[in-house]
Amino acid sequence: MAARAGERRILCVGLVCLDIISVVETFPAEDSETRCVSQRWQRGGNASNSCTVLALLGAPCAFMGSLAPGPAADFIAADFQRRGVDTAHIAWQTRGDVPCACCIVNASSGSRTIVLHDTNLPDATARDFERVDLSQYKWIHFEARNAAEQEAMLERVERHNRAAAPGQRVRISVEVEKPREELLPLMGRGQVVFISKDLAQHFGYRSAPEALRGLRGRIQSGATLICAWAEKGADAMGPNGELVHSDAVPPETLVDTLGAGDTFNAAVIFALAEGRTLQDALTFGCRIAGRKCGIQGFDGII
Ligand code: ADP
Ligand code: FRU
Repeated sequence: MAARAGERRILCVGLVCLDIISVVETFPAEDSETRCVSQRWQRGGNASNSCTVLALLGAPCAFMGSLAPGPAADFIAADFQRRGVDTAHIAWQTRGDVPCACCIVNASSGSRTIVLHDTNLPDATARDFERVDLSQYKWIHFEARNAAEQEAMLERVERHNRAAAPGQRVRISVEVEKPREELLPLMGRGQVVFISKDLAQHFGYRSAPEALRGLRGRIQSGATLICAWAEKGADAMGPNGELVHSDAVPPETLVDTLGAGDTFNAAVIFALAEGRTLQDALTFGCRIAGRKCGIQGFDGII
């Protein structure tokens, strides 16, 4: 979706990869050979999926992450274009492979099993990020990956915000999904911080509210902490420590949960960027993510 003149956009920084998805009716046994019911290539990666959803919601948005030239990148770039996601900030690399995931989506349960190859493509750097004209963005979302470089990117946005008039500031959100030690300090950087069920469970928490209470000390004061929990919906702790909950909105039949979390994040960011309340944003996030779980891919979530 193209931005109207002067309209500030949303930028998502993080992973783009190729998802090769086999849809099955029964999960295969190890070392077996079976036929799947359908197969497709899909542009994946958390930040990239969130861009897809933002574009479908009608928000002008851009993606920043790495690609290396080749057939996978051609497919990915064309798909970004089809969705109207701005790719000017893609950091094209001269070495490394485009990350690729083999995904099995079980259409009888909606489960998604992912095997990701993401090892040797350098990530976008703070230097790449210097080329981003911050005045064009109202919101920048970071999927925590290469922590040191992303810390430097965040510093740049924070510096910009200190000098900017209130209406020109850029809101920052951070998603910490993987329980990797070096990513945890990034929780202290965003005004909105998304943590995953995986991360919460890694810390020993058994529910989203428990995780919010336990991890609130890691976020900056005045920030909002959000934790989605699959069929349990999502919980959040607002700037004054208030707890907010939304039940999940399950579809009639769960068929594909691949990217449900990315859909939830995008819908919450979209709603908050529009000035809606935290409760509204959470409810909207669960509604759109629930729709996503009821269909294959992203077309039809709105
Ligand atoms: P992911 O595993 O992709 O990170 P999450 O488990 O964080 O996804 O779920 C994100 C949101 O998607 C949840 O808050 C919920 O609204 C929706 N969702 C995910 N799985 C289900 C499910 N099994 N039933 C209903 N809603 C779901
Ligand atoms: C879904 C997803 C997939 C990708 C994997 C990367 O959340 O982004 O598109 O294969 O996770 O971790």
